Amino acid sequence: MTDTTDLLDAGERLGPDELRALQLERLRSTLRHAYDHVPFYRDSFDKAGVRPEDCRSLADLARFPFTTKADLRENYPYGMFAVPRERIRRLHASSGTTGLPTVVGYTDDDLSMWADMVARSLRAAGARPGDIVHVAYGYGLFTGGLGAHYGAERLGCTVVPASGGMTARQVQLIRDLKPAVIMVTPSYMLTLLDEFERQGVDPRTTSLRVGVFGAEPWTEQMRREIEERFAIDAVDIYGLSEVIGPGVAQECVATKDGLTVWEDHFYPEVVDPITGEVLPDGERGELVFTSLTKEAMPIVRYRTRDLTRLLPGTARVFRRMEKVTGRSDDMVILRGVNLFPTQIEEIVLRTPGVAPHFQLRLTREGRLDRLTVRAEARPDAPAQTRETAARSIALAVKDGIGVSVDVEIVDPESLERSVGKIRRIVDLRSRNAG
Ligand code: DLL
Repeated sequence: MTDTTDLLDAGERLGPDELRALQLERLRSTLRHAYDHVPFYRDSFDKAGVRPEDCRSLADLARFPFTTKADLRENYPYGMFAVPRERIRRLHASSGTTGLPTVVGYTDDDLSMWADMVARSLRAAGARPGDIVHVAYGYGLFTGGLGAHYGAERLGCTVVPASGGMTARQVQLIRDLKPAVIMVTPSYMLTLLDEFERQGVDPRTTSLRVGVFGAEPWTEQMRREIEERFAIDAVDIYGLSEVIGPGVAQECVATKDGLTVWEDHFYPEVVDPITGEVLPDGERGELVFTSLTKEAMPIVRYRTRDLTRLLPGTARVFRRMEKVTGRSDDMVILRGVNLFPTQIEEIVLRTPGVAPHFQLRLTREGRLDRLTVRAEARPDAPAQTRETAARSIALAVKDGIGVSVDVEIVDPESLERSVGKIRRIVDLRSRNAG
């Protein structure tokens, strides 16, 4: 299952100099395409006093203005498109929990490039033509299901388009159709784990060999939990609809050392989230992407709000990004201390007697915010261990993150289960206000 060079596609075989030259050529044509066909980009470049031809080196990209989610919302629904609407073959949209959703569009060539990138991702994950791939990412406006689907077909796999939900049936399908690969959010994989156990099937005995997990942050501890309990390789896939969908970056199964960014199509930068200044590789900050080959919706310096750092390539010529530890939106500021749900995940998962299911509940008493970590007891854990587990989690949070939290160990099966992207934070502060 290791990657052999003869399996690599033309992009993955580029030398470092060839890659930089290709990136610059594609970047210049993307900036030109955006400027000529999208009024938003024309205005924003003009305001910043830059023209597409000012980009003479990859470093010159830093002179161009950022694009944010708010910009996409203001141009809802079709304002960011650079081709006539008739050439748009498909639309997707983000969930849009606040305000308008953001709509993204793809031409035939965009869909083909996307399928190529997901096929490349799956191959890096250890999937091979002929494998059966169970897709449990949601199908619909969300890019997860259809993105995974066409990529798996492009690789030459047999696809089971299960989509999310109907958990008992998912497990039945896995038992009967015997997929080698599953594509699903890590949190929904845990829901499937419970269901296997409920059906009396040892999850280590399934046909599954590899899981390709993404769409939400997850930790090394979670990788270990899933790998051990299912006896599979668990690798990370990253992407966002504004850039394309899943398949922007993928962890290689041979190295499991962060995600290789498919830099021949998506150019990454990491910037200081406050000043916007470009940071050198190796420094943590906010990930920013510029598409290099998209037609329908070229995207220039899109602020993802995802926090990570860029690292040199290992399995490929392309750079890697470290596992995304969180989004700036998911950061909880508790009495001046910044805290991400993944930090709590690490602690919960290494605490004996506690299941990998937890939720963070934020409340307000007077002017003081309180955070309660609610974690489930493992079904086999003796009742008297709950007290110890709660104390040990609280202590680890205090020591490791530097803030006091309340911890409740709740009964097995009592927290809401994920069917897609999990919601870790339950914010009840506005209700307690005043
Ligand atoms: O979640 C695309 C996707 C589908 C990726 C399936 C992987 C697998 P959006 O709904 O637009 O697209 O959400 C994008 O999800 O900015 C991150 O905050 C988060 N995210 C996606 N993949 C990862 C990951 C899809 N591997 C947003 N690790 C992104 C951490 C991730 N966060």
